[in-house]
Amino acid sequence: MGFKDKLKEQLKGKLSSEELSLLPRGFQTLGKIIILKLNPRLKEREKEIGSACLKLFPSIKSIFINRGKIVGTFREPEKIEWIAGENTPIVRHKEHDVIYQFDITKIMFSKGNLNERKFLATLVMNGEVIVDMFAGIGYFSLPIAKHSNVERIYSIELNPVSYKYLEENIKLNHLEKKILPINGDCKVEVAKLSKSGVRADRIIMGVFPAPKEYIKDALSLVKDKGTMVHYEGVIEKDNFISLFEEFKEIALNEGYKCELNSHRFVKSYGPNLYHIVLDIFILKI
Ligand SMILES: C[S@@+](CC[C@H](N)C(=O)[O-])C[C@H]1O[C@@H](n2cnc3c(N)ncnc32)[C@H](O)[C@@H]1O
Repeated sequence: MGFKDKLKEQLKGKLSSEELSLLPRGFQTLGKIIILKLNPRLKEREKEIGSACLKLFPSIKSIFINRGKIVGTFREPEKIEWIAGENTPIVRHKEHDVIYQFDITKIMFSKGNLNERKFLATLVMNGEVIVDMFAGIGYFSLPIAKHSNVERIYSIELNPVSYKYLEENIKLNHLEKKILPINGDCKVEVAKLSKSGVRADRIIMGVFPAPKEYIKDALSLVKDKGTMVHYEGVIEKDNFISLFEEFKEIALNEGYKCELNSHRFVKSYGPNLYHIVLDIFILKI
């Protein structure tokens, strides 16, 4: 029996048949927290729905409702509110042998990015130097450091709240020897790294809209033998080539050639919109 049917059974007699039909089919679990997206017509019924979820899942401690999107430069959740159980938004979520601790009302953690969080670590070769330009709480840096023999990851994050959790998560996962967190704008911080002689085997540009204005900065870290860049973006239909062409043109103007090694679908982002990643190999001409 699916989640919706189980929830319906719990709420039979308490909600009208129309309300029962509007119950959600799924949810997101982060640690011992469940996050639901509810039809606005169930607004008056939230408490009952929250209590029913707690009964259905005895190991879950809290239920929150997601009422918004992920917005702004910091990619923050617009509105996530507590409805039942313990009102503690700080979660410890374990995924792929990595612990992520963060405040679910202030920090995004996308279910749809799960495969990419796992996959990037499998590409990393022994001894690589990596720059994670939009590191957040360590979405990519932590699993890479945990599951590969990376030499060093420079993880740059602008938002002080995310940065605090990035630092904490590095400690929680005992990855201090591999990850160097940096609090700042990657425009400034990448220039500093480049000036100090850092060159990267791999650069992660994991933010969108596609971080076009940061391509030139990333180029300053390219190694003589070349560098792999993971460049995220949102495209319409399957139009990933135009995203690549945009990158290629900027790189070419700066004296670098690019090869598109592969591309991956990450998640659906709206009607006809897709979050994708391009793996671009860059070499100085
Ligand atoms: C959360 S991740 C995006 C994850 C994922 N790509 C998604 O949205 O599905 C992006 C991170 O980049 C950070 N960020 C945005 N602009 C930045 C900048 N100029 N320098 C460093 N970090 C930045 C944000 O604060 C955020 O934590």
